[in-house]
Amino acid sequence: MANIRFTVNGKASNVDTEANRPLLEVLREDLGLTGTKYGCGEGQCGACTVLVDGRPTLSCITPARAVQDHKVVTIEGLARNGALHPVQQAFVDEGAVQCGYCTPGMILTAHALLEHNDTPTRQEIVEAISGNICRCTGYGQIVEAVEYAAERLRQTNLPRKPKGDRAIESAVDALSEAAPGGRR
Ligand code: FES
Ligand code: FES
Repeated sequence: MANIRFTVNGKASNVDTEANRPLLEVLREDLGLTGTKYGCGEGQCGACTVLVDGRPTLSCITPARAVQDHKVVTIEGLARNGALHPVQQAFVDEGAVQCGYCTPGMILTAHALLEHNDTPTRQEIVEAISGNICRCTGYGQIVEAVEYAAERLRQTNLPRKPKGDRAIESAVDALSEAAPGGRR
């Protein structure tokens, strides 16, 4: 057994578990974060994608001990103040959700792409989501949703965040939360 301390969706978590247990199991079974999906369990489909320190990570093949002292974001961590994240909203608006099984992983992968590239080409989007399989084959709408999300994010009034500057990113988040009406 091992005691794993990490941050999930901005909250400190402390879990006693077998060190080699997949992060996916800890998230779903111990923390109740069932938005992260089990697909293949072999690192082949992307359904289990979460963000670890902002990077898309396959939680089915990531041992829980690997995220000790790291920051994990699951699909449950994107919405703010009851409002969907712009990437989530774009998937809804563009009809990019069919059965929805791939959707959490797709959205987190797209979110990570747009954090570093706010004007991705269609080819860059396709490459970014190439590890996420949609068994409903809704790729056309998914790519369009990511393009739409990029456009919406560019139009936001929030200042763009410099690459990799987490201190400034946190400050922008804090200012947004503190503003009258909170973040939209
Ligand atoms: S469930 Fe993790 S990649 Fe398929
Ligand atoms: S929407 Fe069904 S697997 Fe992608």
